Amino acid sequence: MTDMPVLRRDADGVRILTVDRPDKLNALDRQTLAALDAAFAAAAEDAAVRAIVLTGSGTKAFVAGADIAEMNALTAIEGREFSLLGQRLMRRIERMPKPVLAMVNGYALGGGLELAMACHLRIAADSARLGQPEVNLGLVPGFGGTQRLLRLAGRAAALELCLLGTPVDATRAQQLGLVNRVVPAADLEAETMKLAAQLAASAPLALRGVLDAVVVGGECGLEEGLQFETAQFALLFASEDMREGTSAFVEKRKPLFRNR
Ligand code: CAA
Repeated sequence: MTDMPVLRRDADGVRILTVDRPDKLNALDRQTLAALDAAFAAAAEDAAVRAIVLTGSGTKAFVAGADIAEMNALTAIEGREFSLLGQRLMRRIERMPKPVLAMVNGYALGGGLELAMACHLRIAADSARLGQPEVNLGLVPGFGGTQRLLRLAGRAAALELCLLGTPVDATRAQQLGLVNRVVPAADLEAETMKLAAQLAASAPLALRGVLDAVVVGGECGLEEGLQFETAQFALLFASEDMREGTSAFVEKRKPLFRNR
């Protein structure tokens, strides 16, 4: 499978993945979903990659959804496979062992918002619009949107966005807890890369512990989640980076984390 619809660039421990179908507003067809899956699998394996930024080509869209023209021709059985393909990708992203930032540079609709919600942090341009417009196509979200929106923003927001199908602007999305930061469009890349650089310089094993504890622990009941957190906490006492981080504090110097 070619990875052509996804561009890849590395900068100081940060891998930037760009969905590159600007003439289709970066819509997710099966080929693009497969390419993204391969790109995230490779980034997970590569120890030089400490953080990942995901974005879309051009200035208009992050991702304007699943490819509607492709979906139009699918049978119910194929529609099920399409949903599962998308859901597997979203779950892979959500379970990445290193932080993934969505740089939302424009429309994040349908599968595009689902993609952004699977990332760990979302930085949006003030010009971005986010929504789950599937009902307007006679559909429901199929890449995990009903579930992640519910968990991120609560039932009221999930029902509002999915029932009305009307996108919201970035400021309203932030009020709903859907995005972490809203920045002027001209500053989006610089602001996102600043956060990515901070994460890339941080202690990778601790970041992984946070991701495991919040993502997996958060899917358990409180008692199991707390036990899971303790297990992550205890495990880090075996790491050189924990000794380095605590020693650096005591010695009043900057820590140098080595992913060990
Ligand atoms: N799938 C396929 N093609 C898409 C697309 C999509 N989701 N979104 C945009 N495009 C294509 C358009 O068809 C158009 O292609 P042509 O030039 O070949 O006609 C090109 O991208 C540019 O789009 P527009 O001309 O429509 O641009 P616009 O500025 O007038 O409108 C928009 C922008 C409001 C985002 C509009 O494109 C739009 O509404 N797109 C669809 C959004 C949507 O419904 N997304 C949800 C998809 S369903 C889904 O994602 C299911 C799921 O959960 C898995």
